Amino acid sequence: MNSKFELTLSISCPPAPPSPLPPHLPCPPISPTPLSPYLPYLPKMSPFKVFVTRHLPADLDPLHQIATVEIWPERQPPPYGSLLEKVKGIDGLLCLLTDRIDHHLIEVGVQLKVVSQMAVGYDNIDIPAATARRLPVGHTPGVLTNATADLTWALLMAAARRVVEADQYTRSGQWTTWRPDLLLGPDVTAATLGIVGLGRIGQAVARRARGFDMKILYTSRHPCHPELEASLGAEFVGLDRLLQTSDFVTIHTPLSKETDHLFSTPQFEQMKSTAILINTARGPIVDPDALYNALTKGQIAGAALDVTDPEPIPMDSSLLTLSNLIVTPHIGSASRQARGRMARMAIANLVAGLKGDRLPNCVNPEVYQ
Ligand code: DGY
Repeated sequence: MNSKFELTLSISCPPAPPSPLPPHLPCPPISPTPLSPYLPYLPKMSPFKVFVTRHLPADLDPLHQIATVEIWPERQPPPYGSLLEKVKGIDGLLCLLTDRIDHHLIEVGVQLKVVSQMAVGYDNIDIPAATARRLPVGHTPGVLTNATADLTWALLMAAARRVVEADQYTRSGQWTTWRPDLLLGPDVTAATLGIVGLGRIGQAVARRARGFDMKILYTSRHPCHPELEASLGAEFVGLDRLLQTSDFVTIHTPLSKETDHLFSTPQFEQMKSTAILINTARGPIVDPDALYNALTKGQIAGAALDVTDPEPIPMDSSLLTLSNLIVTPHIGSASRQARGRMARMAIANLVAGLKGDRLPNCVNPEVYQ
C-alpha cells in the first residue's frame, strides 16, 4: 500500500465502525467493497444552510438530512439585528410570527430560497417584497383551525359567565354565601353571534355556535357559497348590522391595511351595551384606546383578547385594570397536537423550498408562474 493511500485512510476513517471489523483493527485498504460499511459514518455533505428562529416541537430529521441547521437557542426571539446577520448566507429561514421579515431583511438574504413561517398568519412578512424576488413563503393553514376555534369558544364562555372574575372572587375569600345576584352574565344559548371573517377558523366557530342554538351572522369581503351558509346556518350581513344586532362579536379576519383598527370608537358606538367582543385573530384589528373607552363607558359589556396591540400587552396598559376584560397570551393554537402539526408543516414547506419543489402550503404561489 503506498503511503499516500495510508495517509488518506487515516484521515477519513471513522472513529468506531461496527462489524465486520473489530474496533482495534486498522482501516482496510481502499477498495469499494470493504469500504462500503463505513459510508454511513462519513460526514454528510449538507448542501444547504438553514436558520430556525426557535426550538420547535417536532423532529427536525427531515431538515438535518439535507441541511446544516442552526437553531436560535433563546426563549425570546432573535433581535432584528441578529436576524439580519443570520440571514446572510442561509438558504432557508424557518420563522415565527414574532420575527419581522421585512423588505430589507429579504434583500440582505440574497441566498434565500425559501421562508417558512410556523403560523397561518403572515402579517409579519413583507409578502410583496418576497414575491418580487420570486421567494416562496410557506405558512401552516388548517392544522390549527380547531384549536383556535376552541380557544375562541373558551374565551366567549369565560367572558359571558365571568369565569376569571369568579375564580378571583373565590381565591380572595369573598365567597361567603350563595347569592341570587352573584356574578351574573348573559345567556350564551340562543344568543346572536356575529362573526367577522368566515374563513376556516370563523367557520369552525360557527359550527360550535350551532350546538348552542345561536343565531349566526357573518360579514366578510364576499358572501360565501350558499351551501356553506346553509350548512352553518349563517346569514351574510354588513358590518354595521352585525355590530348593531350581535350579543357576541368574534374576529377572525387577517390583519391587513383594511382591517387595521377595524374596531375603533365608531364601531363600539354601534354595538349593544350588553355585547361581548372576542379577538383571537390579530391585535391591531382592535384599537386598544377605543376598547378601553368602550369598556369603561359601558358601550360594550366585556371583551376577551388572545391577541393585543402591541404584543405582549404592556404591564402598565390601562386595559389590564379592567375586570370586564380577559387577556390571554396569544395561545389560540396552543394545543400540543396543533403546535406539533404546525411545526411539521413548516418543516415540510422549508424542505420543499430548499429542494426547489413547490411548497405544499405557499402564501405567494405567483412565484411559480
Ligand atoms: C397563527 O398561526 O397565525 C396564530 O396566530 C398562531 O398560531
